[in-house]
Amino acid sequence: MSELKPLVFSGVQPTGTLHLGNYLGALRRWVTLQKDYECFYCVVDMHALTVNPVPQQLMEYTREAAAMFLAVGIDARKHAIFNQSRVFQHAELAWIFNCVARIGWMNRMTQFKDKAGKEREKASLGLFAYPSLMAADILVYRATHVPVGEDQKQHIELARDIAKKFNKDYSRRIASLGLGVDMSVGDDIIAGFFPMVEPLIPEISMRVMSLRDGRKKMSKSDKSDFSRINISDTPDVLLRKIRKAKTDSKPLPDTEADLVDRPEANNLVGIYAALANIDKNTVLMEFCGKPFSIFKQILADLLVEKLIPVALELHRLKQDPDYIDSVLKEGAIRASAIAEKTMKQVRDIVGFLQG
Ligand code: TYM
Repeated sequence: MSELKPLVFSGVQPTGTLHLGNYLGALRRWVTLQKDYECFYCVVDMHALTVNPVPQQLMEYTREAAAMFLAVGIDARKHAIFNQSRVFQHAELAWIFNCVARIGWMNRMTQFKDKAGKEREKASLGLFAYPSLMAADILVYRATHVPVGEDQKQHIELARDIAKKFNKDYSRRIASLGLGVDMSVGDDIIAGFFPMVEPLIPEISMRVMSLRDGRKKMSKSDKSDFSRINISDTPDVLLRKIRKAKTDSKPLPDTEADLVDRPEANNLVGIYAALANIDKNTVLMEFCGKPFSIFKQILADLLVEKLIPVALELHRLKQDPDYIDSVLKEGAIRASAIAEKTMKQVRDIVGFLQG
């Protein structure tokens, strides 16, 4: 039996302008991973269809997300940047996974519950089956590592469950075709086809919260632009948003434990810590006893220092949509080659005639 090569896959939905949560939760890590791994970074336009976007806007946000990947520093000569719909194998594998995954598993997904709300019966089948397509995104490359924010953890666990069930359901066939790879399950080594993907979740700012409500996730879809920091915001917008960010009336405390019941304060300290690459206690050692007016000014300066170079590069790249399109097209060619190799084997495993 052989072993699977480590490979990174991750994606972003083109449903709005990318924000600080996307940056600290995912994109920043993507950049460091490209040094040691082969990476596939995907603008998941098929997922975006679950929220019925206007077609023109979907195209615009798809290009903008790809430009953002480049602006943060992903090297498109070495790694694939592409849009999901160009690699049809994602959809093909998703169908097979729809036949592996159980309705009960999907029913437990908190993101579906949040998004469907009380209108569950009226939600699209696409929204319900979303995690199955997400598992296919990752496993069609047999990716081993997935850098995401904490909000995606449940979906990655589901991808592992699907992989596990597929491996088990087809274990004999996988073995007889000689397609098994070494996999450790507990203390045992077994032959499986799909790997058990590892989510890579940052320790600090795994979940960046809204600037208006520290109990809600910062999100592209929040109606108020003042709830989030967009990576493309100008310095004065950044300053205004941080000044207006909700806080409480107390000064900063001296330990992280005292932030527990202060969600907004906790969020701002977390953002500072993540940007400065230090832990929250170190931030508090420096700022304890200071009022938020002072801390906010210093936080805004740090945001400007870290985000403005990215925003300027994004602005430059957006002037050249033909270049962005060529990156997406090239990336899709690269991704399709790997995805098709996996699918040829999967079709054999499940019993589809081909060739
Ligand atoms: P999406 O587009 O909502 O977010 C993209 C990435 O940003 C992270 N993120 C956050 N991290 C911290 N704090 C926040 N407030 C915050 N908001 C978003 C997300 O965790 C994610 O890593 N389902 C995915 C897209 C997807 C995907 C995949 C990801 C589709 N297929 C396969 C990985 C692998 C999503 O909606 O991400």
